[in-house]
Amino acid sequence: MSVVSLPPTPGHARHYAIVPAAGHGSRFGSETPKQYLSLLGRPLLHHTLAVLCACPAIDRVFVVLAPDDDWWGGFDWSALGSKLETVRQGGATRAASVQAGLAAAATAAADDDWVLVHDAARPCLSASALNQLLQTLADDPVGGLLAVPVADTLKRSDQRDRVAGTVPRDGLWQAQTPQMFRYGLLRDALQRFPDVTDEAGAMEATGHVPRLVRGELANLKVTYPADLALAERLLATAPRG
Ligand code: CTP
Ligand code: MG
Repeated sequence: MSVVSLPPTPGHARHYAIVPAAGHGSRFGSETPKQYLSLLGRPLLHHTLAVLCACPAIDRVFVVLAPDDDWWGGFDWSALGSKLETVRQGGATRAASVQAGLAAAATAAADDDWVLVHDAARPCLSASALNQLLQTLADDPVGGLLAVPVADTLKRSDQRDRVAGTVPRDGLWQAQTPQMFRYGLLRDALQRFPDVTDEAGAMEATGHVPRLVRGELANLKVTYPADLALAERLLATAPRG
């Protein structure tokens, strides 16, 4: 079932970014949470926040930290300017951390405003992909997400890592972030469906139909150690502030 949304008031929507950064990076396996690992001499999280803080369309950037985060204070974030706000109320899951960010934005955000949720662990988002998302969704009643069509042939495995079948890749996309939705719709969707792995999942469960906006493979999520080396190579060839 798809839900029909009322069109937003044109031209007045503001944009707020929420960056969940309260994870521990268990798959990465480092003592230091992966968002604070060094990437070209700065914490990985600094790169992630920089592209959002530099975007003229984004009014404020809420970075959501774990309540017991001892790392944030050890770095200098002043180059990111005055848009940045810390929210020290990250939760046990990514969705709970996003909800803490949405709660912090409540004093500023109206229901028709946009919220862009972006993983702390994606430091290679380009300004052009971000602008593509903003422009494509500008008049959309609901919102959508950056994603890339699956290019490889997909195999399903059995329990011994033998091929159990080939999965048709037609119409399959890899979801990325930022995921950009109307503030009120996303807040309500995450309250109803808190067990999702991304914001689009909550919107889909509510009956909305998020738009897929073609992004870039380079916007990878740093999950395992090899991803950090790849991110470093990508950023070194496309430097940003
Ligand atoms: N995140 C969060 N709060 C949590 C869990 C995750 O804010 N309780 C954030 C992470 O900091 C990360 C983003 O959500 O920026 C995407 O999550 P993921 O890549 O899974 O990071 P981790 O949960 O830290 O890693 P892992 O799953 O390997 O433990
Ligand atoms: Mg995780």
